[in-house]
Amino acid sequence: MSGPRLASLAGRPVTIGGLGSYLPGRVLTNEDLAAVLNTSDAWITQRTGIKQRRVAESGASSSDLGIAAARAALSDSGLSPDEIGLVITATISPDRIMPATASRVAYECGCTNAGACDVSAGCTGFVYALSMAAGMVAAGLHDHVLVVGAEVISRVLDWEDRSTAVLFGDGAGAVVVSPVPEAVMTGGRGSGGILGFDLGSDGSGEEILMIPAGGSRLPASCATVEARQHYMQMNGREVYKFAVQVVARSAGRVLEKCGLSVSDVDLFVPHQANLRIIEKAIKKLGIHEDRVYTNLEKYGNTSCASIPLCLTEARAEGRLKNGDLVLLMGFGAGLSWGACLLEWGCGRGAVDERG
Ligand SMILES: CC(C)(COP(=O)(O)OP(=O)(O)OC[C@H]1O[C@@H](n2cnc3c(N)ncnc32)[C@H](O)[C@@H]1OP(=O)(O)O)[C@@H](O)C(=O)NCCC(=O)NCCS
Repeated sequence: MSGPRLASLAGRPVTIGGLGSYLPGRVLTNEDLAAVLNTSDAWITQRTGIKQRRVAESGASSSDLGIAAARAALSDSGLSPDEIGLVITATISPDRIMPATASRVAYECGCTNAGACDVSAGCTGFVYALSMAAGMVAAGLHDHVLVVGAEVISRVLDWEDRSTAVLFGDGAGAVVVSPVPEAVMTGGRGSGGILGFDLGSDGSGEEILMIPAGGSRLPASCATVEARQHYMQMNGREVYKFAVQVVARSAGRVLEKCGLSVSDVDLFVPHQANLRIIEKAIKKLGIHEDRVYTNLEKYGNTSCASIPLCLTEARAEGRLKNGDLVLLMGFGAGLSWGACLLEWGCGRGAVDERG
C-alpha cells in the first residue's frame, strides 16, 4: 500500500459502499423468441452472444425492480435508509414521465431524509448517475447517495420488431456511494475509491436510438399509437459503429486523466449490449478478455441495470478484490457515453477485512 493517492476526483475520497441487484424470475430464451418471431437461436447467438433474458411479471414496473435492488444495496452497506441523502434512479423505462421513478424507490425503501430524481442518459444512465453521486459525496453535499439502475424494458419494446426485441432484458442493480471509511484510508493504492470519469454526448445521433413519441416533441395520439412510435426504434448498424469506437476512446481517456494505463486495469466492466461490440472494443483498447466481465448471455441488454448487475455477480464470483482497479464503461442513446475508473474496496466490508 504505497505510492501517491490516485485521484482525479477532487474533494474527500468516495467509494461504492454497498451493492445489490434484482432479477425477475421469468426466463425468455432465444428458442422462446423464435417461436413467435422470425428469428433463430443461431442468429441471435452469432450476432449478439445473448442466449436468454429475464422478463418482469405483468404489472411489475421499473420501480418495483429498483426497490428490490436498492434494499439489497442498503443492507449490504450497513446503513439505515434514513442516512441516505439522495436517491438517483437511472432508467430508460421509467414508471411514468412524471413523477420520477426515484421518488417511489426512496419512499418504499424508507429513505425519509432523501431527495429523489431520475437520470435519463440512455443505457449510459448508471454511469452518469454514479458520477453525480460521487461528485456530491466528494463535495460534502451528501454523505450517502443511493444510485439505482432499474429497467422493465420489455414494456417499451416492440415485440413485432425482431431487430430490437431479441436484444433487451429486464433487471435492476444498485450501489450506495459513501465516503471512503477512515479506517481504510491508507493514502495509496488499496484504499478503495472512485478515481475519475469521462462523460460525453453527441446529440446529432438522437434518432439512431429512441422512443419517438410520448414526450413534448411528439405527444401521444391515436396516430402515434397506430405507428408504434411509443416503442424503442434503433438503427442497429449505426449504434454498433458508434459503440465500438466510443468504448475504446472514452476508456482510454479516463485512464489518461487518472494517470493510469490499460495494463493497470484488473477488471473491465462494459455495458452489456452485445458481445461483438465488446470483443471489437477490447481489441482496440488492448485489454485481454480474461480481464473483461460479461454476463449478457444470461440477461441480454438490461440498459441502466447492466453495470451494477455485473458488479454484483463479479463480486459474488470472487472476481472483485479490494484494491483491484475497475473500469466501467457505459454507452447508449443520446448518443451518450461514460467511463468510470475506480479502485474496488466496498466500505464496510473493506473495514472488516482490513481490521
Ligand atoms: C442489431 C444487430 C445485432 C444487427 O446485426 P447486423 O449484423 O447489423 O444485422 P443487420 O441489421 O444488418 O441485418 C442483417 C439481416 O438480419 C436480419 N435480422 C435483423 N434482426 C434479426 C433477427 N432478430 N433474427 C433474424 N434476422 C434478423 C435483418 O432483417 C437483415 O436481413 P436482410 O439482410 O434480409 O435485410 C447489430 O447491428 C448490433 O448489435 N447493433 C448494436 C445494437 C445495440 O447494442 N443497441 C443498444 C446499445 S445501448
